[in-house]
Amino acid sequence: MTSQRVTIGTRPADPVSPASSGGPLPDRGPLVDRFGRVHRDLRVSVTDRCSLRCTYCMPEAGVPWLPRDTMLTTPELVHLAGVAVSLGIDEIRLTGGEPLLRRDLVDVVAGLAALDPAPEISMTTNAVGLAKNAEALVAAGLTRVNISLDTLRRETFIELAKRDRLKDTLEGIEAAAAAGLTPVKLNTVLMRGINDHEAPDLLAFALEHGYELRFIEQMPLDAQHHWDRSQMITGEEILGLLTPHFDLTPLPDEARGSAPAELFLVDGGPATVGVIASVTMPFCGTCDRVRLTADGQVRNCLFATGETDLRTPLREGADDEALADLFRESIGAKLPGHGINEPGFLQPPRPMSAIGG
Ligand code: 5AD
Ligand code: SF4
Repeated sequence: MTSQRVTIGTRPADPVSPASSGGPLPDRGPLVDRFGRVHRDLRVSVTDRCSLRCTYCMPEAGVPWLPRDTMLTTPELVHLAGVAVSLGIDEIRLTGGEPLLRRDLVDVVAGLAALDPAPEISMTTNAVGLAKNAEALVAAGLTRVNISLDTLRRETFIELAKRDRLKDTLEGIEAAAAAGLTPVKLNTVLMRGINDHEAPDLLAFALEHGYELRFIEQMPLDAQHHWDRSQMITGEEILGLLTPHFDLTPLPDEARGSAPAELFLVDGGPATVGVIASVTMPFCGTCDRVRLTADGQVRNCLFATGETDLRTPLREGADDEALADLFRESIGAKLPGHGINEPGFLQPPRPMSAIGG
């Protein structure tokens, strides 16, 4: 027990000022934007469908799914990822919707693992059904997972995700650890009056099992457009929920690199807890991410309102150089920040489930 005050935001202000217009673009080489950010992390949404309906993401009835014929086939997806790898991408994260709903997910992983140079392959998942597939995914080349876990209570899970699947999620988490997908990272979005009081229990659960927990501020990405800043549990509040129960010591910024989580040693370590304050402490200045949607659109930001179509040129026979130019064009148009805190911010038309985390 401690009453010390721990605050978020020990690092300097975001180095890219929203007012800056950036410098000239290099026309060849890796994916560098006008602000000098080198892009190495590709997030590929392999499906927009999901087995859950988390309220901060989707309405209970779901959303209009992408038409099947617009979805990239696995050879198409691997081809585009190969072009990205030739541009310096060295980490590929599979996202959704829920990636485990893609029937040939093991083939996707195997295809990506066969690229040269081979990227590191990770996945963000709700873990429902992971117990059945964890070993095959590891054998195909998957090395790490981030698993969403917002509650340890069955009733709250049902309220939050509209499906009675807590048991499957917990089995999936265990299976991930058993299959060597370590360190297993857990992501939690806290919501006021729903699961915020569970913050200490979730951290105790993670510590007990050796999982790395990160709390994420809720972002305006829900399909329903119901996000309300006053309902968001801020990073500062998250620390306030934890410090009565745990001793938290901020880790220096070097421990973080381009990763968005601010890390804190828990009770002297070695365990850590992360706080991802995407809204109140944006980390856009070190962003190295670019996204490919399940229907073949490149997005240079979670919050981008525009996209670059790669599916059409790919299907019309464009060569790799032309496809590489389109990746560069997208990165060249990347804005300095997400702008959530600026007047006139518009939520992107695509919901989180069709962008990927
Ligand atoms: N705000 C913050 N995090 C979100 N996630 C999904 N929607 C939101 C949101 N609106 C998280 C999920 C999952 C990952 C894909 O992103 O909890 O861990
Ligand atoms: Fe929840 Fe992720 Fe599914 Fe959205 S895509 S409903 S965040 S599990």
